[in-house]
Amino acid sequence: MKIPSNYEIKGKRFVPMISPEEIEQAVVRIAANINNDYQNKIPIFLIVLKGSIIFGADLIRHIAVDCEIKTISAKSYGEKMESSGSVDLNIIEEDFKDKDLIIVEDIVDTGRTLTTLVNNLRKFEPKSIETASLLTKSSMHITDVSIKYVGFDIEPKFVIGYGLDYAEKGRHLPAIYVLDDEN
Ligand code: IMP
Repeated sequence: MKIPSNYEIKGKRFVPMISPEEIEQAVVRIAANINNDYQNKIPIFLIVLKGSIIFGADLIRHIAVDCEIKTISAKSYGEKMESSGSVDLNIIEEDFKDKDLIIVEDIVDTGRTLTTLVNNLRKFEPKSIETASLLTKSSMHITDVSIKYVGFDIEPKFVIGYGLDYAEKGRHLPAIYVLDDEN
């Protein structure tokens, strides 16, 4: 797939880091692992808005077991490039009791969002909670997060594309782009 060689948002230049083909391979690999682990179960995929919409949509099309899909929203970055530390979560009252939940995340940076999310979900007494994240910056994790299904462990740099934004721009890009070192 032909992709833009760079992308600019508010004077900041981003360059390609992970190609659409590499993303597709990771999505297929993660889906295969989930299909294997959830035989005879009906997992509920919790797609975390907005960043995970594209990863989530691609992932579930490769899921071969019966499943359900729900969206939840979490917001932590705004227009900044560093994790703010505070996480707004919006979980509607749901019947998750004894259900197998799979959180679908775009990226785990410090791990605060995911930890907050998991702690909130535990209150619903689900049978299990696992996470699938396309990207993780494991060197930035400040909390003990366990991510069962990971696409790529990347350097602690700011990335956009494939659902991820900077100031709400760049989500549509078919590849992952990283902030250029020249910036
Ligand atoms: P955490 O709570 O620090 O793990 O941050 C997680 C959330 O911050 C993700 O769900 C994203 O919305 C956002 N985020 C973290 N790193 C990046 C990045 O490199 N680009 C865009 N958004 C990011």
